[in-house]
Amino acid sequence: MNGISIGLLGLGTVGSGVVKIIKNHQDKLMHQVGCPVSIKKILVKDVHKQRAVEVDSSLVTTDPDEVINDADIDVIIEVMGGVEETKEYLLTALKNRKHVVTANKDLMAVYGPELLAVASQYGCDLFYEASVAGGIPILRGLADGLSSDRITKMMGIVNGTTNFILTKMSQQGLAYEDVLKEAQELGYAESDPTADVEGLDAARKMAILSTLGFSMNIDLDDVKVKGISSITEEDLAYGKQFGYCMKLIGIAERDGEKVEVSVQPTLLAKSHPLASVQDEYNAVYVYGEAVGETMFYGPGAGSMPTATAVVSDVVGVMKNMRLGVNGKSAVTPQYDKKLKSADE
Ligand code: NAP
Ligand code: HSE
Repeated sequence: MNGISIGLLGLGTVGSGVVKIIKNHQDKLMHQVGCPVSIKKILVKDVHKQRAVEVDSSLVTTDPDEVINDADIDVIIEVMGGVEETKEYLLTALKNRKHVVTANKDLMAVYGPELLAVASQYGCDLFYEASVAGGIPILRGLADGLSSDRITKMMGIVNGTTNFILTKMSQQGLAYEDVLKEAQELGYAESDPTADVEGLDAARKMAILSTLGFSMNIDLDDVKVKGISSITEEDLAYGKQFGYCMKLIGIAERDGEKVEVSVQPTLLAKSHPLASVQDEYNAVYVYGEAVGETMFYGPGAGSMPTATAVVSDVVGVMKNMRLGVNGKSAVTPQYDKKLKSADE
């Protein structure tokens, strides 16, 4: 390989981090994959916008065709968000035999299985590590590290914004609206934070985790969801008085042939390990029949942690290229037709 050419869809919080890592870690990337990695084109909405990272203006475009239909681009990194339009861009890219790396849980929770099937059909990789728990390599943990085990339960904090809000409200007595604003400024929240605070973002991540962990297609509609928007400072103070703290907890549990998935605010005893997960950090316990209990912990949102997961996926694509095994990834769920979700 002479070099890998990237097409970047989006140059916001995560996209800026991706540009920085590709620029600043070029020697590490060369060492990993043996050739240079460069960004050829970047799709944005507004070419005149001030950016968190310096890029050559000739790279930036508002025309998606210049990215997804450019024959010289090998890998598309999708960090623009959105669902229907974005899905069409990625389908076009895959059909053009470009590998895809995405951080988009909204998309993967709904269209993941369909997109993964198309990727496999065209011999392309579709990696989505950054879609769940930011910088924590949990999807590879499930697909590779725990691949020999039978997962029975997953439980954790998978939304950074709500954990940041609950931590600051509880520890510093700050008002909900003020902390939400801070989470937005820090780049943790979605462009519309409703999905964060109403629990939908966590539900999407639990659906993705469950689909992979239990090898079955979990429908987002099957996830029971309650968010934190109605939690008051008084609720938190009351719990605190009795030694409890409030966390937005996602649980996915196998029950015989069925799987139950839910997201809801939960009072945890201060001694519970998840009670010490603070700010934008995430943590997920994975219970396996053979391994017992494992815990994944780390920054669950933000520019650089998320970009680390994205660029590491690009390294994965490049390693597969060298081996000639693109499209045969372990991160593609192998469905067990016998399992059913709880509502079926
Ligand atoms: P963001 O800061 O809002 O950036 C989105 C970028 O995409 C912007 O550069 C925007 O262009 C561009 N864009 C959006 N819609 C577009 C369209 N229709 N056509 C062309 N360009 C478009 O978002 P972000 O926080 O980086 O998140 C990006 C994705 O990563 C989302 O799927 C999000 O859920 C996911 N994610 C985010 C985090 C996080 O911590 N932020 C963590 C994990 C996953 P302009 O700049 O010109 O407006
Ligand atoms: N808005 C998301 C969160 C970004 O707060 O967890 C990371 O997926």
